[in-house]
Amino acid sequence: MSFPQRRLRRLRRSAALRRLVAQTRLSVDDLVAPLFIRQGITEPQPISSLPGVCQHTLDSLRAEVATLVELGVPACILFGIPEHKDSVGSQAWDPQGIVQVALRHLRQAFGTKIVLMADLCVDEYTDHGHCGVVDANGEVDNDQTLELYAKAAVAQARAGADVIAPSGMMDGQVGAIRQALDGAGFAQIPILAYSAKYASAMYGPFRDAVGVTISGGGDRKAYQQDFHNSREAMEEIRLDLAEGADMVMIKPAMTYLDIISQARTAVDVPLAAYHVSGEYAMLKAASANGWIDGELAAVETLTAIKRAGADFILTYLAAEVAHYLNQQETKAGDNQ
Ligand code: PBG
Repeated sequence: MSFPQRRLRRLRRSAALRRLVAQTRLSVDDLVAPLFIRQGITEPQPISSLPGVCQHTLDSLRAEVATLVELGVPACILFGIPEHKDSVGSQAWDPQGIVQVALRHLRQAFGTKIVLMADLCVDEYTDHGHCGVVDANGEVDNDQTLELYAKAAVAQARAGADVIAPSGMMDGQVGAIRQALDGAGFAQIPILAYSAKYASAMYGPFRDAVGVTISGGGDRKAYQQDFHNSREAMEEIRLDLAEGADMVMIKPAMTYLDIISQARTAVDVPLAAYHVSGEYAMLKAASANGWIDGELAAVETLTAIKRAGADFILTYLAAEVAHYLNQQETKAGDNQ
């Protein structure tokens, strides 16, 4: 019998044929590894809600980055865990703050072999766990916070960051950081804006990783986006671009593929997606129970994020998926 669908099926018959007609290809070049560096520890500390991820010492961080370079992963993004927190998060811009120390260390060890991104926020550094200065009413003071972000951006650039990635969702943060960077002689440093960042239940393991508890059982719903909405994501992206963002990000990823897809048609700048800690943890938990094949589910997930329109993906799966993709490439080569 001849059904019109046969045309589609005919092109699925072998792995080589499928590779030939594949529209989306996940590549090692699409991956950015988030890494945690903790001050004042002598051994790396595992994070139980993020199996396979740890809080690094400078030595273990260097070893991990060496592995990423070896695998061909083009970028990593650093998050810091300070020994001491305070009300304004001053370790975020102290030249001796742990991220600044780590950036100098990695820059020296790896030169330009890997892109060093610096997440810019103060929640890891504040004793109340908010992403900014908290006023007398317990609300985050947007405009005062911008001054802190400007200082942190310059400190990170000075320490050797290649890309500054503000994640605090304060209004005007991209403009304030751009102005500060330009004024300090860092006009060449791009900004990756966490433009559409939703107040998500998927950040739990990350907060374990950085030791953040929002005081008084608070949340970030007053400054992060409401997951019921999609149009405001485009508005946030447009505003960040107008303020000078070079690249924009959607976060989380799996449950926001519609947003990624809309953003892809709306803008022409590089588009990132953050496959966040909770998304990683769900996958790892199911895989540890033998309920899904973790490796295949990981590749399928990241490919779907790319298919939706992301150019690159921040993911805790970076090293293992890079390893898998490199192996696949070798196998495909052997079959020729
Ligand atoms: C804020 C920040 C968060 C994440 C990255 N930057 C947490 C938050 O907004 O509470 C979460 C990333 C993840 O869950 O993997 N500095």
